[in-house]
Amino acid sequence: MVNRPIAVFDSGAGGLTVLRRAWELYPGEHFIYGADSQHFPYGSRSLDEVKALFLRFLDFFMTQDIKAVIVACNTATAAALETAQRLCPVPVIGVVYPGAEKAVKTTANGRIGVLSTYATYKSGIYRRAIAHYDHRAEVVQWPCPVLVTMAELGNIETYQARLAVRECLNMIFPQNVDTVVLGCTHFPHMERIFYEEVGERARIIDPGYETAKHLPEVIGPLLSGPGGSIQFYTSGNPRDFNRNSSSLWPNLAIASKSITWTPDGYELRL
Ligand code: DGL
Repeated sequence: MVNRPIAVFDSGAGGLTVLRRAWELYPGEHFIYGADSQHFPYGSRSLDEVKALFLRFLDFFMTQDIKAVIVACNTATAAALETAQRLCPVPVIGVVYPGAEKAVKTTANGRIGVLSTYATYKSGIYRRAIAHYDHRAEVVQWPCPVLVTMAELGNIETYQARLAVRECLNMIFPQNVDTVVLGCTHFPHMERIFYEEVGERARIIDPGYETAKHLPEVIGPLLSGPGGSIQFYTSGNPRDFNRNSSSLWPNLAIASKSITWTPDGYELRL
C-alpha cells in the first residue's frame, strides 16, 4: 500500500500548485498527475459536464493501483467530489473544505472573500463549506476566469497579470473582507502578485496547501524521504502541456504522456 501512487487531478496546470506543495512535503511519494487539458477550462462548463469529464479520468486513475486521489481542482470538487468518493475504493480528497476551514480559523472580522471560477462560484460550494465551519461567517465571492487562462498559459508575472489580479481584488475589498481564499488552483501560480496586491489588507488562503498538509490525516503516514516520482498525463497536446507547465514549475522536467479515450478504455502515448 505504502508505495502505491497518489493521483492528482485538474483541468490543466492549476493542480500543479497542489502537487508542488504535496511534493515538497512528501518527496518520497509517487504521484500521478492527470490534466484534462483537452477540455480546459472547466470553469465555463456546467457542473454535469465537469462531473462526466472528471469521472472519466477517475476511471483511468483506478486502473493505476492508486492509494488516494486528490481532486486538485475546485470546480471538479464542486461538481463531483461526493460521487467520486462513492465510486472510488480509496480516499478521494477535495480542496474546498480544507481551504474553507483554514479561512474560518484565519478571519478576525468574519468576512471572507473567495475568488474562483464561474462554475465554482455558481455551485455555492464555498458558502456551504464555510458555513459548515462557522454559519455566521459572511462570504463575498467573485469569479475570475481571466486569471485561470493567464495562469494556464504561464502568464503569471506580467503587468497584465497584475492588473487582472488587482481588478478581481477590487471586486471584493469594498466589502471589507480580511481573508481571501484563492478558490481556484490556478491562482496560487500568481501568488507573488497576490501577496503584493493584497498587502496588509488581508490574509491569503491557498486551499491546495491546506489540503496537502492534511493528507496524512486522510491517507495515513506519508514518505518524506527521497525516492518519490511524478508522472504526468494530459488529454491535450503533451508538448504544449510540458512547455506551459515547465514555465510554472521551473525546476521540474515535465514529460507528459498523452491520454485519449477509446470505446474500451484509454490509450497512452508518449
Ligand atoms: N483549476 C481549476 C479550479 O480549481 C479549474 C480551472 C478551470 O478549468 O476553469 O477550479
